[in-house]
Amino acid sequence: MEFLKKYSDQLNGSLDGTIELKEPTQLYEPIKYILSLGGKRLRPVLTLMIADFFGAEEGKAINAALAVELFHNFSLIHDDIMDDAPLRRGHVTVHEKWDTNTGILSGDALLILAYQLFEHYDAHLFQELAKLFSKTAIEVCEGQQYDVDFETRDDVSISEYINMIDFKTAVLVGASMKMGAIVAGASESCKENIYSYGRNLGIAFQLQDDYLDAFGDPETFGKQTGGDIIANKKTFLYLTALKLSSQDQVGELEGLYSVSPKDPTDKIEIVKKIFQQSGAAEATQEEIEKYTQKASEVLETIKISEENKKKLKAFGSWLMNRTV
Ligand code: IPE
Ligand code: IPE
Ligand code: MG
Ligand code: MG
Ligand code: MG
Repeated sequence: MEFLKKYSDQLNGSLDGTIELKEPTQLYEPIKYILSLGGKRLRPVLTLMIADFFGAEEGKAINAALAVELFHNFSLIHDDIMDDAPLRRGHVTVHEKWDTNTGILSGDALLILAYQLFEHYDAHLFQELAKLFSKTAIEVCEGQQYDVDFETRDDVSISEYINMIDFKTAVLVGASMKMGAIVAGASESCKENIYSYGRNLGIAFQLQDDYLDAFGDPETFGKQTGGDIIANKKTFLYLTALKLSSQDQVGELEGLYSVSPKDPTDKIEIVKKIFQQSGAAEATQEEIEKYTQKASEVLETIKISEENKKKLKAFGSWLMNRTV
């Protein structure tokens, strides 16, 4: 999408120089490494784009955008430790390339470096941005804890799952956009509406991530496919499959999600087949559509030009059709 280029150029130009490789290199090298792997960088692009749409002067949102991306990368380093993930962005994860302790401390440093970036703003903006950031960060921790708790629970409901992904993922997407609006000095109602828009989009985004975890192309997805099945994650796919399957298949699925075989190849294949046959895969696509639609409805309440609304919608549908 052509209109994104100016934001990603702005961001990419700044991100490289944000963190210096200095002593102790064991702390900073993993940070440089994860950032060098890129990723979609959709959250900071959203911050810059929303700031622009609300009329912020150029460059004003860059530090908020960088903070959001550093926080996201911190959360990925720690998430990969928690999920025992071998691959990130098509490369070996930080804790596997170095070790777990390195991942913990580099992640911690990255989180603090993210906060530091708000020091570039005057007292009023600093307070508003830091307040939103802290609230979001604690919610992400809560979401991550639910995610882990659910691995060993067998009575997770769909609404609990939606709440969990809202916290672990969607609130950060909402906050990324709201920060753009804050920096631009948008009205309270616009700030709230753009936040709500981002949250709905974020829920759709995490549903899509869960779908791709099972059915994505390992070549493009950049993460180990089947990872959620291996870890017995209670995703929308799983919870819906339980609802839609026959008694026999429910028994089989629950059985498979109570074990962690050394070689998970068969488990992954059988579970994916049940996800397909039960209609859970299709239902997940419909749920993604539902939250994308909800986001679109909120968008109508936001005071930006029709042209910019079109851009946001195009961005949303690109996101939902992604393979990475
Ligand atoms: C991965 O986020 C973590 C989730 C919330 C699903 P992204 O899919 O945005 O990861 P990168 O930054 O593009 O690698
Ligand atoms: C991650 O959710 C959310 C956060 C990092 C906070 P996932 O565990 O599904 O993300 P991936 O699939 O590893 O990117
Ligand atoms: Mg993970
Ligand atoms: Mg996780
Ligand atoms: Mg995932």
